[in-house]
Amino acid sequence: MKVTKNSSCMVKPAERTWSGRLSLSELDQTGMTTHVPIVYFYTQPSVNWNNVIQKLKTSLTTTLVNFYPLAGRLVSISGGRLELICNGAGVQFTEANTDVRLADLDNFSDHPIIDQLIPSFDYRRTPIEEMPLLLLQVTRFVCGGWSLGFFISHIAVDGQSSLHFITEWTKVCRGEPLGPPPYLDRKVLRAGAPAMMTTRFNNNVEQHYAQFSPPPTLIGQSNNENERRKETAITMLKLTDTLVTKLRNKANENRKNKADRGFTRYEAVTAHIWQTACKIRNHEPEQKTSVGLCIDLRHRMNPPLPENYFGNAIVDVITKGTSGELVSETLGYVCSKIRDTIEKVDDQFVNSVIDFLKNQEDISKFQDLQLVNDCEGAFYGNPNLGVISWLTLSMYGFDFGWGKEIFTGPGTIDAEDGDFLILPSRREEDGSLIVASCLQVKHMEDFKRVFFQSIEED
Ligand code: COA
Repeated sequence: MKVTKNSSCMVKPAERTWSGRLSLSELDQTGMTTHVPIVYFYTQPSVNWNNVIQKLKTSLTTTLVNFYPLAGRLVSISGGRLELICNGAGVQFTEANTDVRLADLDNFSDHPIIDQLIPSFDYRRTPIEEMPLLLLQVTRFVCGGWSLGFFISHIAVDGQSSLHFITEWTKVCRGEPLGPPPYLDRKVLRAGAPAMMTTRFNNNVEQHYAQFSPPPTLIGQSNNENERRKETAITMLKLTDTLVTKLRNKANENRKNKADRGFTRYEAVTAHIWQTACKIRNHEPEQKTSVGLCIDLRHRMNPPLPENYFGNAIVDVITKGTSGELVSETLGYVCSKIRDTIEKVDDQFVNSVIDFLKNQEDISKFQDLQLVNDCEGAFYGNPNLGVISWLTLSMYGFDFGWGKEIFTGPGTIDAEDGDFLILPSRREEDGSLIVASCLQVKHMEDFKRVFFQSIEED
């Protein structure tokens, strides 16, 4: 089972595009600062392979005319801060082939080959100003099928913006015209502007900005060094429609105010993951634990951000509790904790987070990987976790002109203990969900068992 990389080049915008420095918002430069890995699989195209490669490249050059920041590079300014230089340096495009057949990947998502189909690079050896913001890898399988791996900078874009770019690229590749340009001006999230207001939460930073304080450590340990080094395993857990409904019913039973909208799939599944993790990690009842949530703020701002805002329109927030509380309380109670945290994210909250960050001399401690200092960032492993939703992202149905993908999945590069991702199953119509889970090896089997068993319990 071998993947051979044959060639690599930089694909640049087809026309001259604006050049200069684009200020990034504080939300771009904090939280996840690495690249996001994802791969799409396709069956054999009806046209000659050289035509496929040629069409992918030419349509990419056209698409980059509107999405030119993706062809730029980052530059470090000061205090861990970065700017995006729009210089048309290009997107890395690698051609590869493999001796594997698509049919050999019967369970695509768990197959060890996945990470070889997604381009990547070593952050420690690559100067920041040389890191492409988007790396692509087209791999041809021996059966004629192919895959397209993406490695896209989370400093440049969030999930919704990435998918906007891919959607436009597929349209151009199919011969349709380039749509309206993305909204590139990050000033709507106050990029480049000084801190503006006295934040309403200034006097209680710890409580309101839990995401900027170190997460709890295990009782008896003064830091997370031990937990960080433990070997991890990754598993894709499938929740059928029936199991999702059961969980949701369980979450919503005994709701005091029946007029409220019930808990959502995300809230119910996240609460269930948190309860399960607390059960199987063998914590003391008084163990503090927190869960990181990632919130799309496009509709939470006043006025709402333009729908096609291109950048990071997300903010991380934290829900906290103790293991004893989480294990003994109902699913509905845990859902309420999650809902309360999500609901506090409004225009004023986001602006105060931005101001809090603007007032920091050095923001690198709020980055998951400090690209400038090459240090590790916050760790949400045992006793904590992070649960990201891809449930509302339109991540399926990408047709470059030779048919829609047969499978899509996240790569596992950089996944850490406590990382969870909830995504819709690719067979959208069946209502099932996939929970991509990364945990310490010694916890994984127990997690899987308790995760499914406790849904069935009354
Ligand atoms: N398409 C389809 N369904 C949508 C939708 C969309 N664009 N937007 C919302 N919905 C549905 C949800 O699926 C949910 O339905 P469900 O109860 O059947 O699951 C319902 O409308 C309510 O959605 P929402 O208000 O978003 O609540 P939630 O609990 O599902 O999710 C958040 C809460 C905070 C996770 C979500 O609002 C959010 O911000 N997601 C961020 C996603 C993201 O950007 N991820 C990538 C990060 S890079």
